[in-house]
Amino acid sequence: MKVLLTGGAGFIGSHTAVELMEKGYEVVIADNFANSKPEAVRRIERITGKKVALYPIDVADADKLEQIFREHTIDTVIHFAGLKAVGESVRYPVMYYRNNLDTTLTLLETMAKYGCRKFVFSSSATVYGDPATVPITEDMPTGDCSNPYGKTKYMIEQILKDAAFADPSLSIVLLRYFNPIGAHSSGLLFEDPNGIPSNLMPYIVKVAAGKLDHLNVFGNDYPTPDGTGVRDYIHVTDLAKGHVAAISYADQNSGVGIFNLGTGKGYSVLDVVNTFIRATGVNVPYVIAPRRPGDIAECYASPDKALKVLGWRAEHSLEDMCRDSWNAVAANPDGYPED
Ligand code: UD1
Repeated sequence: MKVLLTGGAGFIGSHTAVELMEKGYEVVIADNFANSKPEAVRRIERITGKKVALYPIDVADADKLEQIFREHTIDTVIHFAGLKAVGESVRYPVMYYRNNLDTTLTLLETMAKYGCRKFVFSSSATVYGDPATVPITEDMPTGDCSNPYGKTKYMIEQILKDAAFADPSLSIVLLRYFNPIGAHSSGLLFEDPNGIPSNLMPYIVKVAAGKLDHLNVFGNDYPTPDGTGVRDYIHVTDLAKGHVAAISYADQNSGVGIFNLGTGKGYSVLDVVNTFIRATGVNVPYVIAPRRPGDIAECYASPDKALKVLGWRAEHSLEDMCRDSWNAVAANPDGYPED
């Protein structure tokens, strides 16, 4: 069975490619390398010992996308491709709406033309905005997002729901990711952000590697046990396995399935820093800084529905995530090599 991964060279896409190929799926990757490198695809092939069909295209380009559907019988699309930097989305909202919505619409049109009916979407816990209570369940309100990036995720969810309502043969799975960190246990695949990272773990590993001076902890006056922000960090390999489960679900169900992919455990920024130091033996100097605008105090999943319906649950501990993040950075201090 062939699965098209848009953005398959990226952090979550590349790990998902490995898990799918290890389960016997054939993988086709479409990626314009806007925030990823071709080397990631070669490493997927190295880990699995299998070939990936790679198309270096922008999936908003309908002609180029169609070439993939002409050359392969695509059973399912997993749509990872998208711009995802929160701060950048505030500065360039039109670019975010244009890119994230166009790619999705072009995919839906092309899938309809070729009779492809299964679509798994990379959504985000960001669609819940500032949740009234935690843990967050899938039926809680969505849409009150504080930035254009989050709004594109919410809007795409609405587009997909409308498409499924109009065409009952479609099978759509919305996966709402919590905070993916960690790296492949081989150390070959990892998160490789451009420039200075804005997310916590990519920043921590750069401080640990001596490339940045210290971590700024954004606020220690939140109503949380130690005052720092609490999130649901999930190992990227666990997250990747959630996609394998989602494909099986899409095979057996039509309509829209919505699932949180998180661990159900909340950890504070200082929990992450201290666990990282314990797991790796490497120090991470930090200072307490002002709150970051748009941040919320607490966000963690109820993963119960994913367990009950998909039979999936996260297996890795926060220590595993810290250790794997660090091992990959230590093995690849300059990230993926350029071509
Ligand atoms: C953010 C986005 C989310 C997006 C994710 C990945 C929101 C509300 N959330 O998640 O939609 O999917 O990024 O791009 O927009 N922190 C520090 N110092 C740092 C960096 C982070 O203290 O240098 C703290 C933050 O204040 C937060 C926690 O670490 O409490 C996690 O931050 P981050 O990794 O950026 O993820 P989110 O903000 O949860």
